[in-house]
Amino acid sequence: MMFPGLSIVSSILLVILVAAARFSSAVPFGFSYNPPKQCGNFTVTWNGGSPPFELLITPRLGLPQIFSLPNGTFDSRSNEGSFSTTLNISSQTIFLMTLSDSAGFGSGGTTAQLTVGSGDSSCTTDNRSADFSFQYNATVQQCKDFFLYNYGNAVQPLTVYGLIPQGSSFVLHPPDGSSSYAWDAAIAAGTNVMFTMVDSKQRLGGTTDIIPVGYSTDTSCLNSTSPTSTGHPALTNRYAWTWWLLKWSSYRWRSRGRDCRPPSCTGPPLLHRKTAQAPGVA
Ligand SMILES: *[C@@H]1O[C@H](CO)[C@@H](O)[C@H](O)[C@H]1NC(C)=O
Ligand SMILES: *[C@@H]1O[C@H](CO)[C@@H](O)[C@H](O)[C@H]1NC(C)=O
Ligand SMILES: *[C@@H]1O[C@H](CO)[C@@H](O)[C@H](O)[C@H]1NC(C)=O
Ligand SMILES: *[C@@H]1O[C@H](CO)[C@@H](O)[C@H](O)[C@H]1NC(C)=O
Ligand SMILES: *[C@@H]1O[C@H](CO)[C@@H](O)[C@H](O)[C@H]1NC(C)=O
Ligand SMILES: *[C@@H]1O[C@H](CO)[C@@H](O)[C@H](O)[C@H]1NC(C)=O
Repeated sequence: MMFPGLSIVSSILLVILVAAARFSSAVPFGFSYNPPKQCGNFTVTWNGGSPPFELLITPRLGLPQIFSLPNGTFDSRSNEGSFSTTLNISSQTIFLMTLSDSAGFGSGGTTAQLTVGSGDSSCTTDNRSADFSFQYNATVQQCKDFFLYNYGNAVQPLTVYGLIPQGSSFVLHPPDGSSSYAWDAAIAAGTNVMFTMVDSKQRLGGTTDIIPVGYSTDTSCLNSTSPTSTGHPALTNRYAWTWWLLKWSSYRWRSRGRDCRPPSCTGPPLLHRKTAQAPGVA
């Protein structure tokens, strides 16, 4: 044989191709956006996906804005979509943005934490109060119960969206008629997560803080499909490459210095009895 190594090389290539194909099925189609500014014309563009599209904007401790994007926002010939809205959110507000298509919630990905930049006062910034309130544990711990409760004035059943900055998203369904809901937090420690709640009448319950998932020795809830924020880059904007460079260098830096486990690591306390309130709670 002239190239005895060929079959090995080609099997390796095949394995890589198969792995890449399997991998890509979970890759969000991604989107980009211009810098968000108070009262600015905020434009989101994307490439790929299939209608109907939905855009979710979740200001930290504020009210989510859900946009069902008209079919006209997507050109199926060029495979490109574009949607513009006046961003009626106050400057300095931190928010996430999640794009979905017919494949399901969050299929387009979720952004990193974004901050509304200063703009002008040409709009009324969104100061509506929540339609119903809920409470939640101030901390989330890997594979431990995380409680959502006191949502008595919602019209059940409820839908809870779990959002991970630059990661995958998930949907939780508290049982109809429940007064509290415990979710086994199947997210690896070190990941950040935010929740928002909508009831069966599309009434808005508000958005939680961005909560870091704390360490626990319990890994029983984790598997290869568990949401993390170290997954694929979902999003790009015009400065994305700088961001990725910074993230990469800080990751390299941290991955050298942080190979420790409690109690030798200091970090967020493992258990807090404190609870936090969602916006609109009196
Ligand atoms: C917002 O920006 C988009 C994209 O540049 C543009 O097509 C649209 O006309 C703008 N809308 C307003 C109200 O300025
Ligand atoms: C939008 O597109 C989807 C999928 O192609 C279709 O099911 C739906 O009926 C369309 N909606 C309108 C209002 O045309
Ligand atoms: C802000 O925009 C959202 C989405 O368009 C809208 O639902 C909401 O009523 C607006 N709020 C104000 C105070 O204009
Ligand atoms: C929201 O802001 C507008 C304009 O500043 C104000 O008139 C309105 O009373 C505010 N609404 C609430 C619920 O605070
Ligand atoms: C991974 O874990 C999640 C949540 O714990 C579970 O719903 C899912 O079925 C698991 N997937 C696999 C492939 O085991
Ligand atoms: C979460 O909230 C529930 C209900 O108030 C409480 O019993 C539990 O101790 C809290 N857990 C944590 C980790 O804070």
